[in-house]
Amino acid sequence: MPGGSALFPPVERLRGTLPLPADKSISHRAAIIGSICDAPVEIRNFLGSDDTAATLAAIEACGVKVERLEQGRLVLLGAGLRGLKFPKTAIDARNSGTTMRLLPGVLAGQDGCFLLDGDASLRRRPMDRIVAPLKLMGVDIEALGRGFAPLRVCGGRVRAIDYNLPVASAQVKSAVLLAGLYGDGPTIVREPSACRDHTEIMLAAAGARVEKQGLVTRIYPAERLRLKAVDVPADFSSAAFFIVAATIIPGSEVVLPAVGVNPTRTGLLDIMEEMGADITRKPAPRAGGEPVNDLHVSAARLKGVKVPGEISGRVIDELPLVALAGAFAKGETIVSGAGELQLKESDRIRGIVDNLAGIGVDIEAFPGGFIVRGAAGRRPRGGKFKSLGDHRLAMLGAVAGAASRGGVSVQGFDCVSVSYPHFREGLMGLMN
Ligand code: S3P
Repeated sequence: MPGGSALFPPVERLRGTLPLPADKSISHRAAIIGSICDAPVEIRNFLGSDDTAATLAAIEACGVKVERLEQGRLVLLGAGLRGLKFPKTAIDARNSGTTMRLLPGVLAGQDGCFLLDGDASLRRRPMDRIVAPLKLMGVDIEALGRGFAPLRVCGGRVRAIDYNLPVASAQVKSAVLLAGLYGDGPTIVREPSACRDHTEIMLAAAGARVEKQGLVTRIYPAERLRLKAVDVPADFSSAAFFIVAATIIPGSEVVLPAVGVNPTRTGLLDIMEEMGADITRKPAPRAGGEPVNDLHVSAARLKGVKVPGEISGRVIDELPLVALAGAFAKGETIVSGAGELQLKESDRIRGIVDNLAGIGVDIEAFPGGFIVRGAAGRRPRGGKFKSLGDHRLAMLGAVAGAASRGGVSVQGFDCVSVSYPHFREGLMGLMN
């Protein structure tokens, strides 16, 4: 288990303006799509984190030149649609599911065989979900760990398919759409419910023909891709920790500037508003083709809600925070149809329930979800939290500590570097 413990004592209130790190999903996509453009791509505000570093290292291993300029500015010299080279050793996706599941989409159209591997946690996450559709597309791909990494992908001809996604997974959708760039006709992907659409937005900006009607996306084979500069907005999933912290800690008032608010990501805003949160959205200039808002959050009393499975694709990474908000609400909060949580960087249903129960929250797991009986604003006792090497559980523990009576010590806090290396400084900056 990486790292030592970090203590998060109770906080009286949070006040101030907090600039947030860049969006992780959009940064990954800018690097991956940039790698197959045929003109240099400038990316501004690229996220500096372990996961996105893994994607940059991966494309560099495949022959893409990456110039790292100051303050998150990068210039990528892409290889063109079919110019990626296979490295002599395995591409190391480290802890990053997005790297491991999106890259095979573009590798499907390259010459040669590529090997992808990751850390122990990534090796436990299912890869058959991308292997199955890519095989249908005629790609020679194998999950060598019997459904799990390492993955071997040998590129070549790609068949267009019409694919019903079995789960609302943006990673799987993206792998199929990226492979669809190399197809012999239009590829269609149908989502069971909405999940993030950053890949579609960026591919369209790069000149690919992408048509979207509700939950159905159609992509046509591309001749070449070119991206103008990509500006990455702040990450809604990172903002989410402070949206919930400022809501549940009485007397708080926090401004989160220039946050990406793509509606396929903002299920948490809908849930929090239904619970009674006080969040004001002010329009800000778009970035990377995505809508952006400044978010103003003030503390509020909450009531419990039911969160059904249909919305979970729009709030999947924020569901741990819904549990914590539920602990402060009046009444029950029930999250169901969220079995996907068990397949993240850790089994997040277990991680949420065991950790929150351990600090005094009344919470119970059931298959595919959990129920929280809220304490109507009473702060939980506090105690110990285990990150399980999962960045989102580590940050959940930190916010829980700030909102508790006795503080929370988070074991293995260092893994926050996966998405938000300066999280602790951000939280402390709001404590004045
Ligand atoms: C992501 C998609 C989601 C999300 C992950 C990032 C992406 O995963 O949980 O953190 O960037 O496409 P799934 O596709 O497994 O739902």
